[in-house]
Amino acid sequence: MGLPYRFLVRPSLRFIDSEKAHNISVNTLTKFAENRPVQKILGSIYGTPNLPITVFGKLFRHPLGLAAGFDKSAQAIGAWPSLGFSWVEYGGVTRYPQDGNPKPRMFRSNQENALINRMGFNNPGAQQIRDTLTKRQISGKWPNVPIAANIGRSKTVNNERAPDDYAETFGLLYDHADIFVLNVSSPNTPGLRELQEDDHIRDVVRACTSLREKRMGSKPILLKFAPDLPRDDLLSCAGAALSAGIDGFIATNTTISRPAPNNTSSRKFFAEQGGLSGKPLHDKSIQMIGDLYDSIGGKVPIVGCGGIDSGDSAWNAITNGSSLLQLYSAMVFQGPSVVKRVTKGLKTKMENQGFADLQEAVGYTRR
Ligand SMILES: Cc1cc2nc3c(=O)[nH]c(=O)nc-3n(C[C@H](O)[C@H](O)[C@H](O)COP(=O)(O)O)c2cc1C
Repeated sequence: MGLPYRFLVRPSLRFIDSEKAHNISVNTLTKFAENRPVQKILGSIYGTPNLPITVFGKLFRHPLGLAAGFDKSAQAIGAWPSLGFSWVEYGGVTRYPQDGNPKPRMFRSNQENALINRMGFNNPGAQQIRDTLTKRQISGKWPNVPIAANIGRSKTVNNERAPDDYAETFGLLYDHADIFVLNVSSPNTPGLRELQEDDHIRDVVRACTSLREKRMGSKPILLKFAPDLPRDDLLSCAGAALSAGIDGFIATNTTISRPAPNNTSSRKFFAEQGGLSGKPLHDKSIQMIGDLYDSIGGKVPIVGCGGIDSGDSAWNAITNGSSLLQLYSAMVFQGPSVVKRVTKGLKTKMENQGFADLQEAVGYTRR
């Protein structure tokens, strides 16, 4: 963990409500995002090794990106690459603006290295995010890394109308991202995860792939799974999504399950409603990455996400079948230096195990 972060920033964040601490970090970064000299300084502190991999026809400088939910309204997308991330996912974006659930709705346990959130897709809506991003594009401040947009279903829309709702947001953001992620796996929007049923998912994916066809585009569309989906349902949903033209998967979103608590403060933490992320999610997410890889083989790439916080956990996700990686919670516990730590650790692992490039290591333990 970076020393300044561990001794100065993290102790003071401990006394602030988790969501406030989060907003302070993103607002500070937003200012940096507009300032090239500061970005350069950050880039020299948080510089990451090259560990190139080509996925979805794009070259990623290394596999590690920022997971959805950190930059919900895409306000700081210019800043994340200077902290070392090789790609960035903004959102969840819904068609209409939403306040999300009542606060407090984000909880942190330093003991468990875990977060629980029940944010409920708070975001300014697709139109406003599109306007923000258009301004950024016009001003020439578009980041030089692949950008993904995370799309969620509006709370007021039922699952029958979900395909149109996703497709409208997809259409509004089409010129403002390189990759799209259909999020049908957040536990905080009632009924959302039912969209992982075969018929629903086919309709949602088709609505987006046919819009893409109309626009004569080819930008990849990924599907993000909940780690709580039983294996058979997962494989069936993945098959349905593939038949509708999906280009890849993200495993996983947060879990509604809880490990057994070790003490009173963990018990209190785990009793909060919402999705759990961070260290306790890692094994579940690896399991899902492996199950998907075994069943779909090399058909489409998998993005590994869930409790990635070190070179070891990142290696675990790669060798079980992930071509790309993302993290959220480890940023909260370790600060921005986590990106450098994870990528350096990954590079050491790769070299020690005799792999010439990362692609060779993808799914290695499953073969
Ligand atoms: C506060 C918070 C908000 C999140 N919001 C979203 C979201 O809007 N869309 C989404 O697909 N995932 C969202 N996630 C899930 C993360 O993208 C990621 O899948 C999950 O946290 C597991 O990764 P981690 O263990 O590295 O945190 C959110 C996570 C947290 C902690």
